[in-house]
This record gives sequence, structure tokens and C-alpha cells, in this order.
Amino acid sequence: MTDEPIFLIIGGTGGIGQALIEQCLQRYPTATVHTTWHQQPSSLEHARVHWHALDVTSEDAVAALAQQFDHIDCLINAVGLLHDGDQQPEKALRQVDPDFFVANIRANTLPSILLAKHFARSLKSTTTSHFVALSARVGSIDDNRLGGWLSYRSSKAALNMAMKTVAIEWQRSNKHCCLFLFHPGTTDTALSKPFQARVPEQQLQSPAFTAEALLNLIDRYGPEDSGRFVDYAGRDIRW
Ligand SMILES: NC(=O)c1ccc[n+]([C@@H]2O[C@H](COP(=O)([O-])OP(=O)(O)OC[C@H]3O[C@@H](n4cnc5c(N)ncnc54)[C@H](OP(=O)(O)O)[C@@H]3O)[C@@H](O)[C@H]2O)c1
Repeated sequence: MTDEPIFLIIGGTGGIGQALIEQCLQRYPTATVHTTWHQQPSSLEHARVHWHALDVTSEDAVAALAQQFDHIDCLINAVGLLHDGDQQPEKALRQVDPDFFVANIRANTLPSILLAKHFARSLKSTTTSHFVALSARVGSIDDNRLGGWLSYRSSKAALNMAMKTVAIEWQRSNKHCCLFLFHPGTTDTALSKPFQARVPEQQLQSPAFTAEALLNLIDRYGPEDSGRFVDYAGRDIRW
């Protein structure tokens, strides 16, 4: 990390996104944190926090935001969708709805691809930079024993493939950037709320715990770790 690191946290109004902002401010007293809101501005105000409005599924909007930065040390994409007001993740194949499937791909797969495409330039550095996409263990094809959640699983599996592909390209063109996929573990946010009843209490993590775990990995990981898919404890997850 440089002396005055610049973070960009996409999805700063989300449960994990907001905790990441707070943990960054505490952990790096000289850091500047840029972050984004989508439907509702945040009430979190701080001299070192700069908010930007962003629909991260819009390539024009992502490109316009990228134009504002010459250099970023660490970009974290904490945006995601598991359910919306109308639809819950599928329990069975017969519940698959094409619009919901596409909405999952738009929210969970496309944004990290657009961010990598447009922020590659500002992540180029002679020191280590980081690009982190929040994925999920349920995006692991190898680990899929329960089935269900067809759209969400598929969108995270596609995200994993896309980011692995970018990491390989960046070994040549952006070789000081460490890109990795992070599974946060079940974290107490709006996204997991409807599914928390079946999670043992000791396995439900606070957003602060998850954010700290991710920043621990960012501090530890260098370009040689690029392309990994890891959980909050830094354990590799099989693809
Ligand atoms: N919480 C968990 O247990 C868990 C487990 C595994 C993986 N994850 C992953 O971790 C990430 C963060 O999840 P979370 O639990 O913090 O979810 P969350 O609290 O629901 O936050 C999601 C954030 O994404 C933003 N967002 C959605 N669509 C957007 C768009 N088009 N443009 C910009 N922002 C958009 C939302 O803003 P608006 O509401 O304003 O749209 C919200 O701030 C997700 O990728 C999720 O899949 C979470």
C-alpha cells in the first residue's frame, strides 16, 4: 500500500460496502476513500470519503467515472443481487424467469468486467495495486452439492470465469495489479437477511468482521496471488 492510498469501493451503501469504507478509514489514516451510491445517497459523511452516483451496469457511467481518476491503489466491487422486491432465488428449475436470470448476470457478472475494462489504466502502477470482486462460494461449480439459486449461482460462476480471464491478461499488461475473487462468508446484510434463519448463529459474520478479513488479505496479497478465488480466511475455493 502506498503512503496515501486511494480506494474506490463500488457499492458503498451496501452492508459489506459500508463496512469496508469504515474499516478503511480506521486502518489507513492517510487513505482517501472514493465510493458509490445507486438508488439512495448515503448519510455516511467524512472528510476523506467522496461519494459518486453510479449505476455500475451502465458502461457509459463506468467509463465517465473512470475518467475522473489517474491512479487508484485498490478497487473493490461490493455490488450484488440475490433477490429483489419481487423475486427470490429459485428453489427449482420451474421457477426460472428469464428476466430475473438476466438481472443476475447484469448485477453480478457484468459490473466487474466493465470496471476492469475502464479502470485498467488507473490501476497500472509500479507498486502493487488491487482489484477485488466480491463473488460467492455458491458460484463454485465444484462445490455445488445442494443445487438451487440457479440464476445467482450461474452469475457468480460466470463472474469467476471472467475475472480469471482478466487476471491472465493482466499478467502481461498490468503485472503489478493483484486481481482476486473474494467469498465473504455469510454476512449480516440485506442480501442475506431472508436466508439467515438456517445459518448457525456463530457462522453469521458481522459486516465489520468481513471487511476486516478482506483488508487483511489485500495487505498480504501481491501480484503473485492474482487470479485466486478465496474465502474470508484466505482459503482457496475450488472452481
Ligand atoms: N452478505 C452475504 O452473506 C454474502 C455472501 C456471499 C457473497 N456476497 C456478495 O457480497 C457482495 C456484497 O453483498 P452485500 O451483502 O453487502 O449486499 P447488499 O447489502 O444488498 O449491498 C448490495 C449493494 O449493491 C448495490 N447495487 C445493486 N445494483 C447496483 C447497480 N446497478 N449499480 C450500483 N450499485 C448497485 C446496492 O445499491 P442499491 O440498493 O442502491 O441498488 C447495494 O449498495 C455481493 O456481490 C454479494 O453477492 C454476500
